[in-house]
Amino acid sequence: MKVLDAEFVQGFVRMCNDGWELGWHERNGGNLSYRIKPEEVESVKENFTTDRDWAPIGTSVPGLAGEYFLVTGSGKYFRNVILDPEANICIVEVDDKGENYRILWGLNKGGRPTSELPSHLMNHEVKKEVTNGAHRVIYHCHATNLIALTFVLPLDDAVFTRELWEMATECPVVFPEGVGVVGWMVPGGRAIAVETSKLMKDYNVAIWAHHGMFCSGEDFDLTFGLAHTVEKSAEILVKMLSMRPDKLQTITPQNFRDLAVDFHVTLPEKFLYEK
Ligand code: 13P
Ligand code: ZN
Repeated sequence: MKVLDAEFVQGFVRMCNDGWELGWHERNGGNLSYRIKPEEVESVKENFTTDRDWAPIGTSVPGLAGEYFLVTGSGKYFRNVILDPEANICIVEVDDKGENYRILWGLNKGGRPTSELPSHLMNHEVKKEVTNGAHRVIYHCHATNLIALTFVLPLDDAVFTRELWEMATECPVVFPEGVGVVGWMVPGGRAIAVETSKLMKDYNVAIWAHHGMFCSGEDFDLTFGLAHTVEKSAEILVKMLSMRPDKLQTITPQNFRDLAVDFHVTLPEKFLYEK
């Protein structure tokens, strides 16, 4: 099968475009990766070439040895993914030590995988383990309202979780485990990857202060839906804070406990503190 005919590739391209249309991917901002299923690799491997060199990942991910990923290219624009997928995304293989990768398909006009490959792969490694292989998508976007909030809220997991939960009743159902926050760090390297992947043990969302967010999920719909829910809630909070600095009424800790019972979710008490 041609790579571009595969359902997982079409889902990946659509997600890139959905993010572009929502304004989260200015220029080359953001990146996406998908851990390809063995049967999907099998269905497209006739298109792979092995003439490109192995290159260091920049970190070690032994838990992903031998895995294949579909990834956006570094410096490539999400805007262009749907117009010319083969020039803007690629399939890479991780070596048997989890130290190096090589491009097997795509980036046909040159380039390399996203500069955030260390964060993507370290997050994949953690998520593969803690979800018994269920999570396959890691998504990084520059969602505007969430970034704005990182200038006015304390960079604290509990504060961000609680404020986002309060802005939309569905939020604690969509991300009951809460969200984690990484203070400002230089992007694109191992250090920020280590901090982010630590948070991914507990959360499916990691916010990068003054930069954006990382989301993890089982498939494209769930992962994009998660980012969309978080950003929608952030937008409501930005609007609310613009109208007045305090709330006249809100969803209370007891309201959240009641919601948790009816919706069969566990909401950690550490987020239901009295203000
Ligand atoms: P890349 O173009 O290398 O994917 O980088 C974009 C980005 O958002 C870095 O954080
Ligand atoms: Zn970024």
